[in-house]
Amino acid sequence: MLSKEKNDLLTRVGPGTEMGNYLRRYWTPIGGASEFDNKETKAVRFFGEDLVLYKDKSGTFGLVDRQCPHRRADLSYGFVEEKGIRCNYHGWLMDETGQCIEQPYEDTANPKNPLREKCKTKAYPVKELGGLLWTYMGPHPVPELPVHEPFTRTNVFRQIAISEIPCNWFQCQENSIDPVHFEWMHDNWSIRQKGAMGPYATKHLKLAFDEFEHGFVYRRVREGQPDNSTLWSIGRVFLWPLGFYLGGHYEWRVPVDDENTLSVAWFSNRVPKEQEPYVQNGVPTWHAPIKKPDGRWIDTHVINQDIVAWVGQGVISDRTKEMLGASDRGIAMIRNRFFEELEAVKQGKDPKGTIRDPEKAKFVDLPNANADIYRDGQPREVYKKNPLLANALKRFPFLANQPQEIRAAFCAAMGVDENGEFIADKKQVREPAE
Ligand code: FES
Ligand SMILES: [Fe+2]
Repeated sequence: MLSKEKNDLLTRVGPGTEMGNYLRRYWTPIGGASEFDNKETKAVRFFGEDLVLYKDKSGTFGLVDRQCPHRRADLSYGFVEEKGIRCNYHGWLMDETGQCIEQPYEDTANPKNPLREKCKTKAYPVKELGGLLWTYMGPHPVPELPVHEPFTRTNVFRQIAISEIPCNWFQCQENSIDPVHFEWMHDNWSIRQKGAMGPYATKHLKLAFDEFEHGFVYRRVREGQPDNSTLWSIGRVFLWPLGFYLGGHYEWRVPVDDENTLSVAWFSNRVPKEQEPYVQNGVPTWHAPIKKPDGRWIDTHVINQDIVAWVGQGVISDRTKEMLGASDRGIAMIRNRFFEELEAVKQGKDPKGTIRDPEKAKFVDLPNANADIYRDGQPREVYKKNPLLANALKRFPFLANQPQEIRAAFCAAMGVDENGEFIADKKQVREPAE
């Protein structure tokens, strides 16, 4: 349980709020670069600020104030030039630093035009990494954008899925340190959705939570789990401050404002050894809807099920009315850590995990309980036997409504048909025996 004041402190992210200022001090993924394959501008909102994300004709991404610095027209209706974004009202042109570089009539009327140099609109830096677009909205100097190990993988099929979630970011992110919900929300609920009354999934017997430089890990022991399981020795990662990392994919819960969150999820599937070398041409980005036509939430896929929990907690979960138990120790730990961090930043300290050394940022490894299958690559025979791999071949398990063309590209990369069966196996079966 938290006081209303503390709940407000954790959940409010608009300009000038403590948590908003704190979270702005991290590089944050805000979408996929491939969203701009067929469009120039996108109206976006992050941390309660209305902005325009654009890609100019030279390939540079920019993130600038939605309102034109001239007379406030909507720059998401502007158009891009070789350099910068031009307002469609009177043609003022801004570059990715926010500097106004052309004011057509003013430049004609007064070639020395002092107004132009003085005109600078709000702008945040944008970088591309792993097919994701990242921005940094905090104070300068800007820290390094860490290159995590998954972004350096080769022979992988990657995809990005984004969804708009109508609730506060913090309840979404608490889900990243909540091991027991897997047993109920994913395993047992799915059993009941299929009409079975059981048997239910194996129970959680033991939990542990540990802090490390870039977040926390939770570790678990479930009934029947082997003693040497990496789910106990390594665990899963609450990636500070907005992410969840499971070895094969990330999920970030990016604050749009106090009442909305953008779920940005990045998936990487290692192709079987027999499919190497595989080089993906760009990382596709798709929009995952979260509601059914009847207005109820989609509940058939893993992240969709999570979303049912998040939005169900209310627009901003009222933590004055909750009752935490032993399963929630990780939740309490991260809340306390956020409170400590807000104080530390007030003392002038860098936020947790900040990297300012460019060499260190070039490669950041993260705990990965399944590095063998997600990082190293395995032959087809292992894919058939490993439930995580075999299920991923059959269907995309995380979000509903994956576009058909992305499923087809995935199947081609993995060498499987639409049912997830290896095509090489089928060929062998068809060949007549000697
Ligand atoms: S309002 Fe944008 S150029 Fe005039
Ligand atoms: Fe979940």
